[in-house]
Formats: sequence, C-alpha cells, structure tokens
Amino acid sequence: MVGRHDKDESKKMNREAEEVEKATEAEPGALPPVPHYNRRFVILLAIVGALGGLLFGYDTGVISGALLYLTKTFNLTPTMKGLVTSIVLAGALIGAITSGDLNDRLGRRALLMIAAAIFALGAVATAAAQNVLWFVIARFVVGYGIGIASYTSPLFISETSPPHVRGALVSFNQLAITLGIVIAYAVDFGYAYPGGWRWMFGWALVPGVLLGVGMFLLPDSPRSLINRGREEDALKVIARIEGKSAEEAEQGETVRIQEIEAALQREKELEAKVGWGELLHKDMRVPLAVGIGLAVLQQFVGINTVIYYAPTIFKYAGYSSNAIAILGTVGVGAVNVAMTIVAIFLLDRLGRLPLLYAGLIGMIGTLTALGYGFLLPEGQRGTITQISLMVYVGCFAFSLGPIFWLMIAEIYPLRVRGRAMSLATFSNWAANLLVTFTFPLMIAWINEPVTFWIYALIGLMGIIFTFWLVPETKGRTLEQIEAQWIK
Ligand code: BGC
Repeated sequence: MVGRHDKDESKKMNREAEEVEKATEAEPGALPPVPHYNRRFVILLAIVGALGGLLFGYDTGVISGALLYLTKTFNLTPTMKGLVTSIVLAGALIGAITSGDLNDRLGRRALLMIAAAIFALGAVATAAAQNVLWFVIARFVVGYGIGIASYTSPLFISETSPPHVRGALVSFNQLAITLGIVIAYAVDFGYAYPGGWRWMFGWALVPGVLLGVGMFLLPDSPRSLINRGREEDALKVIARIEGKSAEEAEQGETVRIQEIEAALQREKELEAKVGWGELLHKDMRVPLAVGIGLAVLQQFVGINTVIYYAPTIFKYAGYSSNAIAILGTVGVGAVNVAMTIVAIFLLDRLGRLPLLYAGLIGMIGTLTALGYGFLLPEGQRGTITQISLMVYVGCFAFSLGPIFWLMIAEIYPLRVRGRAMSLATFSNWAANLLVTFTFPLMIAWINEPVTFWIYALIGLMGIIFTFWLVPETKGRTLEQIEAQWIK
C-alpha cells in the first residue's frame, strides 16, 4: 500500500524541483533553461511519428463519405451501418490494450513499422472487399493498427522531444489526427461516385508506406533503446538530438545515459511494488476519475457522430446529392484543423479550463440548434445544419479534442502514469465504440432532435464535472500537479 511513503516521496520530489529552480535561479515554478538541440532532426522525428496520428485520423474519418456508397453496395441496414462504422474501433480497442506490452518488448520504432505494415495491407484488403464479412475483417485489422498508433506515436514524439517543446509537439499529434480526417474527407469528395469507396480506403496505402519507410530510416527513441539494453545506440541518438559530435557525446555519456537509466530503474522498482490496485488508492481516485471522465465526455458529446457520419447527417438534413453532402463535410474538417491550431497557441496562454468551459458551452448551444434544425421542414434544414456542425466541431477542436490527450499525459504521478494512461485511452475507444454503434440506431428508433439533445445534456453534465473535479494544469510542473493529489 502507499500513503505515508507516497507523501514522503512527493515531498522529496517537490524539494528536488525547488532545488532545480534555485540552481537555475529561475522564477518559482519555471522550468530549467532551454538546452541546445538539433531542431531539424527533432522536427523530422516528430513529423514521421505524427504520420501515425495522420493514419489514425485518415482511417477513422474515411468511413464518413464511404458509408453512403457502402450502404448501396452491401445493402446495409441501420444495425449493419453501425457495425461497418464501428468495427474499426473494436480493433483499436484491442490494439491500445496490447500496445503497452508490445512497446516494452519491441520498442517504438519496430512497433510503428508493424503498424505501418498493418495500415498498408489493411488499405489494400479493404479496397478489395467483395462482401460485408471481408470488409468488416479488413477494417478490424486496420483498427488494430490505429490502436497501436494512438498509443505509440505520442509516446515516440514525447521521448524524442526536448522538454521545453514537448507540449507543442505532443499536441502536434492531435493536429495530425485532424489533418488525416480532412484529407480523408477531400479524398471522399474526389471519389464521390458508386464504387469510388474502394479508392477512398485504398489511398491509406500512401501514408502507411511513408510511415514504414520513415521509421525504417530513423532511429528508435533513446529511452526505448536503453529499455532494451542498447546503450551505445541510445547515445548516438542523444548526440544527434542534441546536435553534438561523437566526442562531445562521449564526454556527456555518463550524465545522459545514467539519467535515463536511473529513471527507468526507479519506474521498474515502483512497478514491482505497486500493481493495478494502486490505481484504486484513495489519493488516485480523483486523477483517475478525471482521466476516465474526460475520455468518456470527449466521446459522449457525440463528436464522432459528426466526424464519421457528417455526410449522413447532411443527407438526413435534406442535402440531395451525396457529393454536396461530402463537400459540406470537407468544410467541417477544415474548421477542425484550423481550431486545433488555435488551441495549440491558446492552451499555454489562457489555460486549459477557460477553453474547456467555452468549448462545452459552444457545443451545448450548437447541439441544441442542430436538434431544432430537424424540426424544420426538409428543404429549410441545410443552412442551420451546416452552421451548427461547423461551430460545434470548432468548439470541440479548441477544447475537448486536444485537452483530453494533453491532460492524461500531465495529471498522473509517474508511478501510475503508464497504467492510468492506458486505462484512459481504453475508456476513450470504448466510449467511442458505444456512441458510434448506437448513433444510427438512436436516429432510427428515437429521432434526430432528441438524439442531439441527449448529447447536449451530456455536455451540460460535463460542465458540472469540470467545475467539480478537473484541475488547471497550465504553467505548473508535473511534480506540482502530482503533489496536489496527495491528501
Ligand atoms: C478524438 C477522436 C476524434 C478526433 C476529432 C480526437 O481527439 O479522440 O475520437 O475523432 O479528436 O478531431
């Protein structure tokens, strides 16, 4: 069990943080000075790593435009529509759970290459599907790749980034997700004709191959290499990241390598002492609830009913042609990218909470409007649907979208971080699966207005939840955040 030991540990960490501050003569709470690093190499590592995020976005977003044509080709009922859309999420769920172990054994680089191969083969297999069963199996396999990428890409980026730019580069992965989605929408628009759906899925081959080749040419992260006993290789990567010569790296070797080894050792000892039960300790209940709560909230406000089903919603709203419905969706995707960029600039200036409240209020308003829009006669629904969907996605993109992924990387004490993060990621995919699968059924069995109003009500509960439990993490060190949970 923990308790006193933890308090001592946390006090010790606070003292260490204070010492760093004193040593660097910085403002209280400020981070150590910016180290020298090789900008181009670090950005290259982040871009290739974020190709995993791009594929996550592409392969989840592509279904939106394809669904209209798949429905025709395979004669899909509402239940089958739900299955065809959500099977990829079931694959992702399994991929996310197994990623932790695979990462330890194989390392980030090999695992991302495996994910790339899965994406590439999955793209071809989906494009060639001759019946629903074939299609569903191929999408499950692609989903497995997405699950691996959703866990491994941000991990790889965070381990190859210098600390002072890590936040921005990790959010860069969310930006890649939204870019993947909008590219998928554009491709959907380009192939908006019967049978064109095969190309929509097939194009994922390109980023899949790029990710595979990119990771083949790049090294694994230093931490991942040391974890598997490859210290010399790790040293070479550290030297490249810091833009140093081999001799300079040799001189600094003991410090850098020992630093990472000590951190790994500490984590291993702590893991040996604390099992999954640690997550249930009373001091961990709140941060655990925050991570799972935000995971569920991110999905239960219905974001992916829009991301995956936007053209279908436009069709419900009375847009007569498939192509126009998909074009409207491209607009939604563009707003998603633009507002994610806005979030990257604002998160560290305004803070997480103001953005979260503003985003939730905006989503509640637009979901309510969307519901009302469906009460209008069919010919008059288009404008209100288009505007509501765009503003709704914009509000999500500057708030819950990036904040969920950012916060689960910030709020957990080191000793439970891996497990707590995988639990939050798992909850996110599970909640996503539930909403995506039930959406067409809710539309068919209840109706459009009530369905969207239910999501609005969940947004309202989200505001109460945020007010009650979610902490502000802006400008605080991870140790300061950790200390707040220890009662
Ligand atoms: C969510 C995804 C969603 C995407 C939309 C991500 O943060 O986890 O489920 O599709 O944002 O941009």
